[in-house]
Amino acid sequence: MQKEPVLLDLKSVPHIVGPGALEQAATCFSGYAKVFVLVDENVEKFCLSLFQEKLPDIRFAGIIRTKSGELNKNIHSASVIWEQLTHFKAERDSLLINLGGGVISDIGGFTAATFKRGMDFINIPTTLLGQVDAAIGSKTGIDFKEFKNQVGIFADPKAVIIDPVFLDTLDQKQLQSGFAEMLKYALIMDVPLWKMMNMRYFDAMKPDLNQMIIRAVSDKISIVEKDKRESGLRKVLNFGHTVGHALETLFLKADAPVTHGEAVAAGMICATRISSQWPGFDCHSPELIYEMVDRNFPRLVFSVEDIPEIMRLMQHDKKVKAGEIHFTLLSKLGSAVPDIVVSEEKVEESLRFYLRNQ
Ligand code: GLY
Repeated sequence: MQKEPVLLDLKSVPHIVGPGALEQAATCFSGYAKVFVLVDENVEKFCLSLFQEKLPDIRFAGIIRTKSGELNKNIHSASVIWEQLTHFKAERDSLLINLGGGVISDIGGFTAATFKRGMDFINIPTTLLGQVDAAIGSKTGIDFKEFKNQVGIFADPKAVIIDPVFLDTLDQKQLQSGFAEMLKYALIMDVPLWKMMNMRYFDAMKPDLNQMIIRAVSDKISIVEKDKRESGLRKVLNFGHTVGHALETLFLKADAPVTHGEAVAAGMICATRISSQWPGFDCHSPELIYEMVDRNFPRLVFSVEDIPEIMRLMQHDKKVKAGEIHFTLLSKLGSAVPDIVVSEEKVEESLRFYLRNQ
């Protein structure tokens, strides 16, 4: 069982991961004229006092508030954050702590990196999804119109502090959402992580969760340090996301939001199905992958009549170039190839397969 935090470096950005990470990171917050913390209403209620208990010496010059949820990751919220930073007279030598999930690190990183042409920020992800994915890798941004992450920049945080203490504040659905990204790392690059999961239900994996988080963070760091701007290799992290993002938007528009993890889980079934029909695929048991996904995620309820709309939404994805849909496919379990052009027919077939085989 992991008892101490580990230090992983991404270029020169320290990532402190594990129990006790917050206390270990105390020095990261020193030397700033003013320190601000960005929270949403849930984080303020459930995590802020936990943070202050662990690091009582940090005095906030202001608490910056934004509304929770992907629907609020927009230019209006960004402008409300800039207003608050202006009100509290934040300067370039100030620090913004992004305390929260993926929405907070995305919009907090974006607003900090653009405020007065850039102030420092530190990501302290409080959700499992943020801890194993969103807070790592310097992507920041907001959604625009119906499109996710349409406006944003790559900006490095000064540090990323990943402390499992916050995971106790999450419900099962939120934890499970982050687990989808961990399963993704296992499938695209990490057979030992897959073996650690051992076809178990998420609950049964909890004693090993800290170790698994460290593996997942190292996996992401190892990809981002080779290709931060996603010109090639980093695209493997999109496994399951081409269909997943379209489904996430479909359900959001229908006012029946599903978690990011649930959408990506569905996307991973479709991407595995497409992989299994691709000549580059050398895996005898895609069924094991479907089984592991199904063991941990409910099937999303949609119908064949929704497929044209899903395909339309996919056309707006950044993974579509010149009308061609690009997928990350598995070449085998634990290995993936980015940027494979897949025909619309094959994508549609994978969606029908998802609906058929439940
Ligand atoms: N979440 C995918 C990436 O960071 O590239």
